[in-house]
Amino acid sequence: MPALNKWPQWPEFSLADVPVQSEERMKGYKKAIVAEHGEQSLRNAWIKTCERLEKITQQLITEGSSIIPVLEYENLENLDDEEKQRMKELGCFVIRGVIPQEEVSSQYKSLKGYIDSNKESISAWPEANPAVYRIFWTPTQQAIRGHMRHLRVQKFLNEFWHDSSQVTSSDPLTYADALRIRPPGKEFYGLGPHIDAGSLCRWTDPFYRKVYENIFSGSPEDHDSYDLNLRKDANQAAFEGSAHSTVFRAFQGWTAMTAAKPREGSLLLYPYVSVAMAYLLLRPFFTPPAQGDIMDASRWVFSADDGWFPGTHEEDSQYVSRESHPHLRLEQCLVYIPDMRPGDTIWWHCDMIHAVETEHSGKDDASVVYIAATPTTPTNVHYIKSQLQNFLAGKPPGDFSGGTDESKLTGYLGEKGIPSADARQAMGYGLS
Ligand SMILES: [Fe+2]
Repeated sequence: MPALNKWPQWPEFSLADVPVQSEERMKGYKKAIVAEHGEQSLRNAWIKTCERLEKITQQLITEGSSIIPVLEYENLENLDDEEKQRMKELGCFVIRGVIPQEEVSSQYKSLKGYIDSNKESISAWPEANPAVYRIFWTPTQQAIRGHMRHLRVQKFLNEFWHDSSQVTSSDPLTYADALRIRPPGKEFYGLGPHIDAGSLCRWTDPFYRKVYENIFSGSPEDHDSYDLNLRKDANQAAFEGSAHSTVFRAFQGWTAMTAAKPREGSLLLYPYVSVAMAYLLLRPFFTPPAQGDIMDASRWVFSADDGWFPGTHEEDSQYVSRESHPHLRLEQCLVYIPDMRPGDTIWWHCDMIHAVETEHSGKDDASVVYIAATPTTPTNVHYIKSQLQNFLAGKPPGDFSGGTDESKLTGYLGEKGIPSADARQAMGYGLS
């Protein structure tokens, strides 16, 4: 059964999307990869990936949301290697009860009060039906991000990654992001199926491309989605665009401030992170057969002569669509996250396709605070140090420029809102 009642009017991508002024440059990016790895390697990878996708899509259609592991905060220490391996392979999971419910409910009340008191000064997106609030330093965000239990989860998730260079650590850094309060009954189309952490740079930045070398060289089965030694140097912000985060997030996450079920402004995910990523990366090198079964990958023609990277726009996140990425069978394979309760968290790998559902047919606001697991890497340290300076000045973080001077808001706590010494450390105090 498809996850969504009706496929929303999310954009479809076509060859016509390539801007004339950048066509030659885009062709050059493709040619460079073909020159490095060769047609045969790309073809081998394409066939293997589509075969693997066939199995995965069957599984996603059969299992739906129940495929997403659901864990309790209190049990994190007791997970065995097999369970962790499964979490890594899927790349997404719920961790329940990270913040105790009463605490979240009282924090949510305080957040609503804070927003009410400062209505005139706070901007939210989209303008017509505000849902995403561009504020970063509310007392509530500070308390939740820096909560002892939340920091513990962040560290636990950073440890899913490994780094043979030893220049990184799993100590969590606080990447300040916005928050969402989505009213019921309003549709929201802004976030169709996409992947964050840059878009075109996955093919063009030499360090980012290295992360995916096994895929391009014909062995997608050897791709390791958790190699921080490679990933730490990838430049996610190689192209300008407000959609790109500068920092590397081991996992993106939502912390639920209210309860929310599927069809209530919830999130959809595409599990099995490495396979979907391999497909996305290889897709620009092949064109569908003019006749016959489009799902037969062996009939697709190798072609690196155009400048089309489907769903890829320099300034935006990486998007996918039903027509441009047919083997993903998005309509059937995007799965809802399970019901969320206040204080629960959902986590997804930084390479994972995700979408925010357009519908919210619940009765109450659906609210989440965006909090990621962000390890200590040289790039992240650099950003967090500048973020700290912005925080001290009440300004928005560097990735979210152009917002409010929050230090002027009623109820603003600034440094007094940092809940503990560990939270201070994560905010970047003491970084050299
Ligand atoms: Fe996203």
